[in-house]
Amino acid sequence: MLFLKFLLITTICIFFIEGKRRNEQKRIKKKTSKNVYALLIVDVQYCFINGSLALNQSSARQNGAEVIPVINKLIKSVPFDVFVYTMDWHPKDHISFIDNIKDRQEYVLGDHYEQYKIGDTVTYTGPKYWTKQILWPTHCVQNTFEAQIAEDLIHPLPNQKIFYIKKGTDPDVDSYSAFTDNNKLHMTILNEKLKSKHVTHVFISGLALDYCVAATALDAKHFNYKTFVIQDACRGVDEKTIKFQLRNFKKNHIRIVQSADIKKIIKHEDQKTNL
Ligand SMILES: *[C@@H]1O[C@H](CO)[C@@H](O)[C@H](O)[C@H]1NC(C)=O
Ligand SMILES: *[C@@H]1O[C@H](CO)[C@@H](O)[C@H](O)[C@H]1NC(C)=O
Ligand SMILES: [Zn+2]
Repeated sequence: MLFLKFLLITTICIFFIEGKRRNEQKRIKKKTSKNVYALLIVDVQYCFINGSLALNQSSARQNGAEVIPVINKLIKSVPFDVFVYTMDWHPKDHISFIDNIKDRQEYVLGDHYEQYKIGDTVTYTGPKYWTKQILWPTHCVQNTFEAQIAEDLIHPLPNQKIFYIKKGTDPDVDSYSAFTDNNKLHMTILNEKLKSKHVTHVFISGLALDYCVAATALDAKHFNYKTFVIQDACRGVDEKTIKFQLRNFKKNHIRIVQSADIKKIIKHEDQKTNL
């Protein structure tokens, strides 16, 4: 009995001391913490530039290739600590392709599958998940030419500062965000990678502003990064959804910035941290 009491007290003491030590470590870490800046380059792939989902064929008629010089200039002139290149990377039987609706017809909710056209939203009741899906042409199929990242884009050295994230690899659920799939059930390795580098600020560029850039920005904010969308380093699909997402960013405290201001913003953020 006495021994048990002794054991209990010892355990409590150890817990207490360990807790204090952890808190102290946390305090020291906080005091010496610094901002770590990541540039996310979302889906700058040929599919969205001159391939099967080329933005200039969609209603906003924007040119995806125009983001390349803007992003290259950012990479060369702003001292980012981490760079992330994301790729839409679908298997052939992907749920987002309108060509695959026939093979999935038993899971289409309501209307007959033949009535659906590109841009419509279909509700699939299976096979793995209940999910709403916008129908797109077949695009960014794994290992095809058009799924490559545009060749003119710079990849800075050293390589340890770069991560490549493939998304939309599950045939049965789409993934606009580079962090999570559209059902918010599975995470990619992105959050883990950013955490491993102690990233605090995330700047987002790329294609398309109203879909994958928007979903990635909202998730970055959700996972507690200070989040910035670099407007002139993005291009979108449709004027209406672009406007909607820009309002949505503001509502969610995501800052909309221009590439020429990033250096100044970083300097300002560093000053705030060192106060
Ligand atoms: C879209 O851009 C590609 C590549 O720059 C070009 O070849 C094509 O003609 C453009 N299409 C339209 C509709 O502007
Ligand atoms: C898209 O542009 C790249 C680079 O300029 C070129 O190599 C490729 O052939 C083009 N693809 C199409 C479908 O035009
Ligand atoms: Zn896709």
